[in-house]
Amino acid sequence: MAITLSVNGVARSVDVDGDTPLLWVLRDVLGMTGTKFGCGMALCGACTVHIDGQPTRSCITPIESIGSSAVTTIEAVGATAAGAKIQKAWLDREVPQCGYCQSGQIMSASALLASNPHPTDADINDAMSGNICRCGTYLRIREAIKQAAG
Ligand code: FES
Ligand code: FES
Repeated sequence: MAITLSVNGVARSVDVDGDTPLLWVLRDVLGMTGTKFGCGMALCGACTVHIDGQPTRSCITPIESIGSSAVTTIEAVGATAAGAKIQKAWLDREVPQCGYCQSGQIMSASALLASNPHPTDADINDAMSGNICRCGTYLRIREAIKQAAG
């Protein structure tokens, strides 16, 4: 079925089953591979995008559930004020190691900063607890979020 959705401010029409996860549409249909597949079961956070600003696991989000909501991905989050601050801090602090989890980390962190410009450690823990990093970059992630909020 033909479904139209807003991705990074652009209306995109895709011909997929309504229960197709957003992650598959982004990567396989639209060719936007910045959003990563990790677990496919809402356990790792690698696939995090924003839907109307809310961090959302795209691997378990059926395309038919999105409607007219705005999808923002790692490819465009740098155009937002919070996303730009987070990306700069990520570079300054050299946060990534292998990098696989990092687009999801940045999406969760930028959503946190947009809604809470001065997060406490507890706020950071709450916001980031669903994003797993096998390389253990958690300390640098915390430092970068604090720099971006500073
Ligand atoms: S791939 Fe979606 S949470 Fe792991
Ligand atoms: S940087 Fe390698 S999994 Fe996070």
